[in-house]
This record gives sequence, structure tokens and C-alpha cells, in this order.
Amino acid sequence: MLLLNPGPVTISPRVRQSLQRPDLCHRESEFYDLQDEARRRLLAVHALDPDEWSAVLLTGSGTAAVESMVASLVPADGKLLVVENGVYGERIAAMARQYRIAGDAVRHDWLSPPDVAAVAARLAADRNITHVAAVHHETTTGRLNDLAALAAVCRAHGVRLLVDAVSSFGAEAIDFAGAPIDAVAATANKCLHGVPGASFVIVRRDALERACSRTYYLDLVRGATLQDRRGTPFTPAVQAYYALVEALREFDEEGGRVARHARYASLAEQVRSGLAALGIAALLPPEESSVVLRAYRLPDGRSYDALHDALKARGFVIYAGQGGLARSLFRISTMGAVAASDVTRLLDGVGAWVRDGSPDSRDEPVSVVPGGVGARANL
Ligand SMILES: Cc1ncc(COP(=O)(O)O)c(C=O)c1O
Repeated sequence: MLLLNPGPVTISPRVRQSLQRPDLCHRESEFYDLQDEARRRLLAVHALDPDEWSAVLLTGSGTAAVESMVASLVPADGKLLVVENGVYGERIAAMARQYRIAGDAVRHDWLSPPDVAAVAARLAADRNITHVAAVHHETTTGRLNDLAALAAVCRAHGVRLLVDAVSSFGAEAIDFAGAPIDAVAATANKCLHGVPGASFVIVRRDALERACSRTYYLDLVRGATLQDRRGTPFTPAVQAYYALVEALREFDEEGGRVARHARYASLAEQVRSGLAALGIAALLPPEESSVVLRAYRLPDGRSYDALHDALKARGFVIYAGQGGLARSLFRISTMGAVAASDVTRLLDGVGAWVRDGSPDSRDEPVSVVPGGVGARANL
């Protein structure tokens, strides 16, 4: 089964093999060697200086890393402005509310890009805002938010940026040097091709000095401090760290971030043009989309469930739209051990489904739960 959902990804045989390494106690030097290598290689993805930046590993999914960043890095007297244009921006705002962090949001509907002028106006109107949080690749729609434009506005107002790069780190460009970024949260099991269970925050060391630890388990300052001393606060997901390190070695040997971006871009274009030839339109134009995942419009009268099941029968797992988009969209990611020949087979499968053409027997609307999210849609 080839996974074309936005993580976990299909891993390479080499990364799978790394899961077979010996059992390892996390208080032994061999574990700290592994942890050190992971931290060093994560910084090397963007050639970051370890004196200026720290890669803090967490055991947990991408949400753990985002929550650690948000709950730790807004100072006690700070204020957070969240840019929301999809599920993941809204999740950051929910975290901030849960931790009672003072703040506000600039809200957009899920199909819109961030209104940078509105963000600037909010920053100008409220000089107490210290941080802006934004999602780099809003996986809800496949939109690559314009981080450079948001960074410029933050810089102009002396505000720091917290970035959810869970579905972009390792593939899309991030200007760590030029942008007023305090931290970037990401995960092992998306563009880096590791397995679920390990995530991380790349944080500016001086931001840790201003931090406010509102959370116990996800305390970024404790994690950074102990990991710098070849320690770890709790029992980490050792096997997920094995896989992350092996995936990072493979990533480097394959040419690093630029090569991964090129590989994804080529696969994403193959999917886009192939689906367009079958009459299936992309939600967003390529210049507004990530190379990681794209959303496509279901043909009129055809259901996601039927497409999903037809492709699963051929060995592919695709992904539904989220929330209100569940009935009109599907999503395809090109992360992981995916080759052009796989995409060709995928397109053959979609072509057969399109030609089949009969109204799907399962065309009834997706059942909607009170939160407005379709039963088979993904939170
Ligand atoms: C942009 C973004 N942020 C956060 C998450 C949450 O990651 P996880 O499901 O690993 O907790 C995702 C998951 O797809 C994501 O795409």
C-alpha cells in the first residue's frame, strides 16, 4: 500500500530496516549519540549555526511540537496573534486559548491566502503583540502561505514569528536568516520520511531565555537544556529516533532540501497535469501551492468514498478534504518513497474510475457530526 496521505509516509527499505536496530536504554551513551546526531542533522537541513539555534526533540506527533512551541515561547507578558486560514492555524489558536495566552487571531476562510495587510494593521493597532504564529504549508488546502511576506510585516513591527512547518520542513524553503523567526515546529514523519512518534522544534537560543514554561511534558526549555547536556527528560520513542536519523542520512545523501523540493515538485506536477487531462482540476494554481500536497476538486456527482475505495483496491491511500471541504475535495501528497512510476499507476487508477463514470452507489452526502466535520473526513 502506497501512502499518498499527508503523513505518515511510505518509508524507504533503509529506514524500515533501522527500526530493527538493537533495543536501547535512553540513559546509555549510545542513545545520546543518536540524539546528538538527530539534532545536528536537523539543524544542517537549513545550515543553521548550533550556537544560535537548538533543535529540540520531542516524543509525540507534529501537534506536540507545535504545542510545545506555542506554550513555551510567548513570554508571560507577551501576546500572540495567530494567522488562521485552515485547520492547523485554527488549532494553534485553540492551543493559545487553552493555555490562556493573551492574544488574537486574523481569521480567513480556508480558501484564502493570509491577508498580510490585515496582519500589519492588527500589529500596528496593538503594540502589545509580541509574536505572530503562522502555518507555513496549510495542509487543509495545500496552500503554501507566504512566509516571507508575513516575516516582513513582523520585522517592520518588531514582532517575532512562530512557524508551524509540520508539513513543509525538509522540502519548502524557510528563510531562517532573514526572517524574525523564533521557532519552527515540525515532525519526523512527513517531508523527512521518518516514522510517527518523533517531532522537534528548531528554536533560536535567545528565544529560550525569554520563554515561559506553561506546560510540563512539552516544556521546550527543559528539553533544550537537558538535550544540550546529553540528557533527556522522559522516555523517548527510541525506535522513532533510529528512523529519523536514518531518514536524515538518506535525505543528505539524496541532496538535502533542495533536491527533495525538486523531487516533490516534479511528482506534484505529474499528478496535477495527469488529473487535469482527466478533467479533474486543482483547487489552487501551482504558484500558490506547496509541492508537498495538493487538493483537487471531485468531479460533479462523484463521491470521495468511491474514489478512495477504487484507488485503495489498486494499492493507494489518498486523503479526504477536511471539514466543509470533505464533500468537494480530495488531497494527494507526494511525500515519502514515491516514484514517478507510482504516480503513473495512480493516474491509471483515477482514469479507470473517471471512465467508469456511472453515478457512484455511495454518493450520499458524507454524514456530518456536530462540529461540521464529515465522518470520513480527517480532523
Ligand atoms: C501544518 C500541520 N500542522 C500540524 C499538523 C499535526 O500533525 P500531527 O498529526 O502529526 O500531530 C499537521 C498534520 O498534518 C499539519 O499538516
